[in-house]
Amino acid sequence: MHSSTAPTTPSHMRAAEIGRFGTAQDVFEVAENAPVPAPGHGEVLVRQRATSVNPIDCRRRGGYGHKLMKLRGIAGFPLTLGNDVSGDVVAVGPGVTGVRVGEAVFGAKEPSRQGTYAEYCVVKADQVIRKPDALSYAEAAALPYAFLSAWAALRAAGFRPETAAGKRVFLQGGSGGTGVVTLQVCKALGAHVATTAGPAGVDLCRELGADEVINYRTQDFSRQLNDFDFAICLADQAEEAKMLSILRGGPGAGYGTLVHPLMPLVDQKGLFRGGVQAAATLMSRRLAQARRRRGYGWALFKPDRAALEMLARLTGEGRVKAVIDQTYPLSDIADAQDYVERGRAKGKVVVAIG
Ligand SMILES: NC(=O)c1ccc[n+]([C@@H]2O[C@H](COP(=O)([O-])OP(=O)(O)OC[C@H]3O[C@@H](n4cnc5c(N)ncnc54)[C@H](OP(=O)(O)O)[C@@H]3O)[C@@H](O)[C@H]2O)c1
Repeated sequence: MHSSTAPTTPSHMRAAEIGRFGTAQDVFEVAENAPVPAPGHGEVLVRQRATSVNPIDCRRRGGYGHKLMKLRGIAGFPLTLGNDVSGDVVAVGPGVTGVRVGEAVFGAKEPSRQGTYAEYCVVKADQVIRKPDALSYAEAAALPYAFLSAWAALRAAGFRPETAAGKRVFLQGGSGGTGVVTLQVCKALGAHVATTAGPAGVDLCRELGADEVINYRTQDFSRQLNDFDFAICLADQAEEAKMLSILRGGPGAGYGTLVHPLMPLVDQKGLFRGGVQAAATLMSRRLAQARRRRGYGWALFKPDRAALEMLARLTGEGRVKAVIDQTYPLSDIADAQDYVERGRAKGKVVVAIG
């Protein structure tokens, strides 16, 4: 089993790290001398050109999910956050086939202590694929984590790409980082898409192809929409009952959400009590929907190579584009997180690594 490395790979790099939990302005340090990790079996080392900020990064920086991370053996400091990979492969570990040194790739890695807010990151080879030429590194960094997360929610609701044509999909929060890409993918697969956005996001959602856009600040979507196959929560779980009210009866209809009480319950009540309460809540809500023969699911980001390949194909064909609200240099990572944490982004916040 061979590994290979580009001859110019240095041993140290710049990386945005935190040494404790706290506010972005208090805890971020851009280290100049962080060690460059070495790819293990089945992994590649990527020279990062860009990454993006996801709301989960801001929450983890504040300590959210710490108990689950500890259970998974990935707690501790210094911690480099970030999940979106976009750059060039500079080394491959033993056992890697199908990815070559020098190849431009993109994808999203699972939570770890060595995230993507850094000049170099290690990622499992099967979690990245070739970056379409049509996408810049910044654009490629804006898509994978947000899309794969929302895709997990669509799948949890029962949505399938092969039967998507003609399906009626409601996306709550079409203007956010997850919404902008999910809306376009659903349209490209032939679905009818309705979405909600605040006043500053309405035109954007229309430009991206949404069939119906409702300003959630002035109108109640549940009074205007009905008979939907799928409702996907990408913003506010307090509107769950309204989203369920616009669904048709099953089978084949369903609700999926990215915003749910699993991690908050575990953080507040501990792994056992929080986990049991979350499981009981999920089970009772599932049963309530099963009585109407509808799907119901809570979703978490999940690597999904087939979905990533579909995303690459649709971007390569020009049917899905990245929507970038702001771009910050790595040195301004604290400002980038503050912007995302305010919850008003229209599309994604990208971090240029250079
Ligand atoms: N479970 C997971 O694994 C997972 C993974 C990814 C994301 N998430 C969660 O999913 C949510 C969405 O992520 P994101 O990256 O899309 O966030 P984001 O980029 O911060 O979303 C911000 C957008 O949401 C809109 N918005 C806020 N409240 C809304 C509402 N009630 N109805 C419609 N639109 C609303 C805002 O519009 P205005 O400014 O006009 O209000 C803004 O454009 C976050 O809570 C995130 O933590 C979870």
